[in-house]
Amino acid sequence: MKFFVDTANLDEIKEAASWGALAGVTTNPTLYARIGGKLSDFHHHIQRICELVAGPVSAESTASDRDGIIREGRELAKLASNVVVKVPTTIEGLAATRTLANEGIPVNMTLCFTVPQAILAARSGARYVSPFVGRFDDISEHGVAQLEDIVTALGNYDLSESGCLRADGKREHIEVIAASLRSAAHVAQAALLGADIATVPFAVLKKCVEHPLTTAGLEAFNKDWEKVKNA
Ligand code: G3P
Repeated sequence: MKFFVDTANLDEIKEAASWGALAGVTTNPTLYARIGGKLSDFHHHIQRICELVAGPVSAESTASDRDGIIREGRELAKLASNVVVKVPTTIEGLAATRTLANEGIPVNMTLCFTVPQAILAARSGARYVSPFVGRFDDISEHGVAQLEDIVTALGNYDLSESGCLRADGKREHIEVIAASLRSAAHVAQAALLGADIATVPFAVLKKCVEHPLTTAGLEAFNKDWEKVKNA
């Protein structure tokens, strides 16, 4: 499983990238609003993120009709070679995704909650699909079980024939981004059930590294090493 960081905060992205294990970034309008982002700076901000990370950077289209999504998607794709256009899993989103995928523009279909939605995303040419785990839990459903069903269903088929067009004329197989992950336990479950990617908020990413037994063990080693130095 690859790790993406789910944030628009440049400091968090820089820091996560410095750990050496980061494969990409996902953003959305809420995350951009959270950092006080302005509309006039949005494209420039996405470019700055794309300079920090070599891997895919998802930037969301905010149009609701297919023509608007296609127009915004083409503009976003021009910002950097690693931009992925985030598109909601709606009828208009599916139609726009097919056009963008046929132009070789990778799409991350977001706000996906069910198996039929995920299969339709794959059939419309999405490069990635993002099932939301935490938000399903929020309505007393089982987000991890839904993610597992989606991974299983997509694994049942060779979906590359309908995927995003590559430069060599072949098509990409869709990858599942486990999204709306709220804890290290969510991340572990996503890995165990075979999600291709986990997109993780920075605070949760830190919790994925930190463990009380690691901290306690290190303290004990350091204490004993002081004894060795003073012996
Ligand atoms: O990648 C999707 C994510 O940003 C949504 O997370 O916690 O707002 O449900 P959350």
